[in-house]
Amino acid sequence: MSATAVYPGSFDPITNGHVDIVRRSLQVFSRVVVGVAFNPNKDSAWFTPEERVAMIQETFRAEGERVVADAFSGLLVDYAAAKGAKVIIRGLRAVADFEYEFQMTMMNRHLRPQVETIFMMTGESHFYTSSRLVKEVASLGGNVSGLIPDNVVPLLLQRAVAAR
Ligand code: PNS
Repeated sequence: MSATAVYPGSFDPITNGHVDIVRRSLQVFSRVVVGVAFNPNKDSAWFTPEERVAMIQETFRAEGERVVADAFSGLLVDYAAAKGAKVIIRGLRAVADFEYEFQMTMMNRHLRPQVETIFMMTGESHFYTSSRLVKEVASLGGNVSGLIPDNVVPLLLQRAVAAR
């Protein structure tokens, strides 16, 4: 197995779609670093970077050292290099994801050609799951169980009430 891969994202919050991608990645890589991206100057996230990291750590507690989470700001390729990762993992759902992912991959390749981006297809039960939609559903009083890890549900509901 190759060593370390970085799985970056906003993770605001982590969904079961993200969990699915991490689990698939663990079949290929011995260690996955889940990198929570944040912008210190402009972040409209529901959760602080520390809260997002804590939710991810709790979700993957059983995986021990094989999954680590932390937060970063700045360029993703620099973060990957700092973590000793030659691979960036991104999840793909529908065709709609492609354009955005293609652009990011090419830009990252331009910035640091040594880092390769690998895509994993999300399990079909997660094709419609996104952090954005999960927050919208929660804030409108809809049922989010099964869409996000169980440990994240109470935190999301708490934040949804505050957002109303
Ligand atoms: O979960 P998201 O919001 O789709 O993740 C997007 C993310 C965090 C991967 C992307 O915004 C990112 O790489 N941010 C770090 C800043 C960066 O490196 N930008 C230039 C490369 S495109």
